Amino acid sequence: MATLVTGGAGYIGSHTVVALHDAGREVVILDDFSNASRRAVDSIRGLTHRDLPVVEGDAGDADVLAAVFGGHRIDSVVHFAARKSVAESVRDPVGYYRSNLGSVVELAAAAVERGVRRLVFSSSATVYGSASSLPLTEESETVPESPYGETKLMGERILADAAAASDLTAVMLRYFNPVGAHPSGLIGEDPSGEPENLVPRIMQVAAGRRDRLEVFGADYATVDGTAVRDYVHVMDLAEGHVAALDADIAPARSRVYNLGTGSGTTVLQLLAAAGEVLGSSVLYEMAGRRPGDVEASWADCTRARDELGWRATRSLHEMLTDHWNFTHHHP
Ligand code: WQD
Repeated sequence: MATLVTGGAGYIGSHTVVALHDAGREVVILDDFSNASRRAVDSIRGLTHRDLPVVEGDAGDADVLAAVFGGHRIDSVVHFAARKSVAESVRDPVGYYRSNLGSVVELAAAAVERGVRRLVFSSSATVYGSASSLPLTEESETVPESPYGETKLMGERILADAAAASDLTAVMLRYFNPVGAHPSGLIGEDPSGEPENLVPRIMQVAAGRRDRLEVFGADYATVDGTAVRDYVHVMDLAEGHVAALDADIAPARSRVYNLGTGSGTTVLQLLAAAGEVLGSSVLYEMAGRRPGDVEASWADCTRARDELGWRATRSLHEMLTDHWNFTHHHP
């Protein structure tokens, strides 16, 4: 039996495919390559020494899913395929609801119909509101502040309802800020368009592909005035998905878990760490706050530790070292 990984050529998807293979699982990749490069598939095959089956298509297309489930014996699914830009979702909310929720609905329907026993859903810390007290637990108030965050929270609810009414069980993983790459440097964050996230932009500055970094806001009520986030290594995240596939959540039919490190880092602290890793300071300038940003966000991951036996083990230094290793292998 195989695990279907939608978005399996993407950033977290590709790392999870490799982790699943390393855990002895058969994997089928579904990706429309709208935000993933085909070279990631070659790299995955190089890392796993397997010609993993790859289906090109939209996870929200019922005919594509029928072909995937008809052509492979699938007993579990990890669902990554989604549009994931907060800013873009504000500009194109209907497009986000259509694509992100459409794929959840179609995938849930196919999973229930085909007797899939476990679906792991790629959710996000953006489901939490900016007013929630820190650290964020799975019980913290969920008040998304963007259509993107809304699609993640609604996706969780759709899957929880599907699981409650069928043999399917669902595990939702709320990531904080994924950073880093596989230590081989063969797979990593390779967005199709211009990155909006902090670390890819820092790496662009280091690679000479961006003049300098703009620091969005220096007037937050934090230790140095810049915003705080919980950065977590993508390899730790990938291992969290492997643990979630086998987790016994009974008697619950669905369960939510935070995946983070439990510690917060400011933008300036991250820039300083990047300078140490890169061996030279990263040029930056202070700028105004970015609309939609929260002041601080970091996780309480007690539940994942206690119930999944999972915790993040890789340091910020390892995240930045691995991220840079991938970046300069892929100019
Ligand atoms: C981190 C910090 C910025 C760029 C987003 C999504 C979230 C998740 C991870 C999918 C913030 C600051 C950034 C820059 C900066 N993705 N920054 N200059 O916004 O915390 O989370 O990516 O699940 O859903 O919302 O990540 O990396 O964009 O920003 O100062 O050029 O870096 O203000 O404080 P964010 P980010």
